[in-house]
Amino acid sequence: MDDLQQIETIEKETFRNGGVNLNTLRSLENTFKDGLIIIKEQKDVLAYLGWEIHKKQTFPPYNHDISKTHDESGNLGYISIITVRKEYRNKGLGSKLLNILIAVSKRYSCKNLYCPVNKKHPYLKKGVLHFWEKNGFKISGETNWEIEKGKLLPSFIFSKQL
Ligand SMILES: CC(C)(COP(=O)(O)OP(=O)(O)OC[C@H]1O[C@@H](n2cnc3c(N)ncnc32)[C@H](O)[C@@H]1OP(=O)(O)O)[C@@H](O)C(=O)NCCC(=O)NCCS
Repeated sequence: MDDLQQIETIEKETFRNGGVNLNTLRSLENTFKDGLIIIKEQKDVLAYLGWEIHKKQTFPPYNHDISKTHDESGNLGYISIITVRKEYRNKGLGSKLLNILIAVSKRYSCKNLYCPVNKKHPYLKKGVLHFWEKNGFKISGETNWEIEKGKLLPSFIFSKQL
């Protein structure tokens, strides 16, 4: 299986058949060459992060056409996906992805990184909010994130100044 297919499978396992689909992953890969950061062990995908650049803070649906939202003249890095394969969680890979992103996004002159986190996130009890705080992100506001058409999710906005 190629990387994008593995990612789609991990997304389905992680978010009960939801998550980011192959079309979105392809649009990310085709639009933004540094938009997908993947940690692998040989051929196996262990963890990945998807991001794009915005000119102003907006919250596109989970699955969207990145060629319509990514704008390299902006300086806000929007984190749209961050997932570690179940067996590999809590071993530092998620933090490693964010550290790689910080270095990469600075090359694009980004000044800020942000990510919406559903207030009823399925991994709240596992410590998803703590994960962001531990990595220096702070709640900068709240939004009604339209995660898919017609489905609004009250969410925290986690941000980090670079
Ligand atoms: C959230 C996630 C990306 C963090 O990556 P990670 O590699 O597990 O995290 P790290 O090892 O860098 O950091 C571990 C910390 O994250 C916390 N954490 C958050 N969610 C967790 C989860 N689902 N499983 C294990 N630890 C989790 C732990 O409490 C831990 O805190 P501690 O170090 O103070 O003990 C990863 O656990 C994951 O993919 N979770 C499921 C999908 C998800 O929630 N994605 C985020 C969407 S906003």
